[in-house]
Amino acid sequence: MTNSILLLPGDGIGPEVLGEATRVLDALRDGFGLDVSTQEDALGGAAIDRYGVPLADETLAKARASKLVIMGSVGGPQWKMPYDKRPEQGLLNLRKGLGLFANLRPAICFPALANASSLKREFIEGLDIMFVRELIGGVYFGEPRGIETLHNGERRGFNTQSYTTSEIHRVAHVAFSMARQRAHRVCSVEKSNVMESGLLWREEVTAIGQAHYPDVELSHMYSDNCAMQLVKAPKQFDIILTDNLFGDLLSDAAAMLTGSLGMLPSAALGEDGKPGLYEPIHGSAPDIAGAGVANPCATILSLAMALRLQLDRADLADLVEAAVSATLDDGYRTCDLMPGDDVRIVGTRGMGDAVIERLRG
Ligand code: IPM
Ligand code: MG
Repeated sequence: MTNSILLLPGDGIGPEVLGEATRVLDALRDGFGLDVSTQEDALGGAAIDRYGVPLADETLAKARASKLVIMGSVGGPQWKMPYDKRPEQGLLNLRKGLGLFANLRPAICFPALANASSLKREFIEGLDIMFVRELIGGVYFGEPRGIETLHNGERRGFNTQSYTTSEIHRVAHVAFSMARQRAHRVCSVEKSNVMESGLLWREEVTAIGQAHYPDVELSHMYSDNCAMQLVKAPKQFDIILTDNLFGDLLSDAAAMLTGSLGMLPSAALGEDGKPGLYEPIHGSAPDIAGAGVANPCATILSLAMALRLQLDRADLADLVEAAVSATLDDGYRTCDLMPGDDVRIVGTRGMGDAVIERLRG
């Protein structure tokens, strides 16, 4: 049976970076016997322009019927509307609509980029952190939310941070079972010194660990301390398990340790066998959109995650990751990667070309 992939380029640099990942996909189809078909649809601002909403029902239906979804990025200054109609809401609705509660964000430092980090080489060489971010709960989705006008004429903006035991349990299981494929260590991050939802998070993660994963070492950290530890001694971490908002913040910080936000892929997973969503963790970068200079590596590496996690082609995932690594070793850099000696600055297409060349061997 042919696996179908839904491609959602989105906005800003999204179409450019997804374009290169699609060319890598084509190369795998042509030369490596990968059996997949693709179709494309609009998400975010592009969907607002085409359908009047950031995620059309028919697009969500297509996503549900696909084996998996790969997207570029969403958002841009031209779509200033209420939150429930903004481009970003399309992405949140897609995550929610597909039940994607676990977001895997690996922060890996490629050897060639050890000098591109804002930290000294010895702190990040060999860095390999896996973030497991809860993706469809917490303050992103909690009710009530809104902006109201009070009797005295003041305005009040409010959101609700909320987690239930089952929401915590299912994502904790993902982190603990993943730890068994890695260094058997999970650091759970919350703010239980000030938040009840954080206290519940800590208690429930502890309970799941004790009951089911006694072989995995569990530690706890407040999120502010975690932010500090990430820039102080990032190699202490194996898996960081955290909620939706803290995961958003901390994974951006960790991305920078690896050289650039343009390098980090992600996979959002729901129940077994259901379609996952693969996306770079960076945004739509409206300031460089259309200029052909964006780094496509995060999206290409997201495709590699899809090959490994959902298409049962770890062999091809290895090849794609090795091709990206070799491209960097050979000195190819997009402008987001701090240039060093002997590097060749290329654009989005040039980077894609170099990766495909190395893939073909
Ligand atoms: C991310 C992004 C999204 C998020 C935005 C675009 C809604 O920042 O995937 O990290 O906040 O989850
Ligand atoms: Mg983010």
